Amino acid sequence: MSALQNSLQFSEATVRQAEMIFKRYPAERRESALLPVLHLAQREFGGWLSQEALDYVAAFMGMPPLRVYEVATFYTMYNLKPVGKHHVRVCTNISCWLCGSDAIVQTLQDKLHLKMGETSADGRFTLDHVECLGACVNAPIVHIGDDYYENLTPDKVSEIIDQLP
Ligand code: FES
Repeated sequence: MSALQNSLQFSEATVRQAEMIFKRYPAERRESALLPVLHLAQREFGGWLSQEALDYVAAFMGMPPLRVYEVATFYTMYNLKPVGKHHVRVCTNISCWLCGSDAIVQTLQDKLHLKMGETSADGRFTLDHVECLGACVNAPIVHIGDDYYENLTPDKVSEIIDQLP
């Protein structure tokens, strides 16, 4: 940690959370904590993981940066570019598609005036699609922030957007 040439720094609260996470794993398996620590970093550093953030996590974990890059670029839950305050991620995989995700996508695009992958000029919303959120039984699904919204209809998703702060 002392060798970090990086302006990013976890808060004391986040360091404490990371230490709690490390306790879940045997000392020799500390690297297994990488996924939850990347989540902490994403939350702490503005909702996305810059190169600087990934390098910070690598140093924090005592891992080669390349190992951190491999993981962060594999999983879609890690944002490698800035996202809006509300990151709206619509599942368009088979179960959601069969249950009407096309209409959910269209509703969100029309309501937010965004296409998939775009962020609103005011930084309030980013709209993205994802491939299966693991909640197929309640398709169609949208993931916003820490919450899943399930069994959606165009009207329901429109109401959800209206209620976001
Ligand atoms: Fe949408 Fe699995 S296909 S949650």
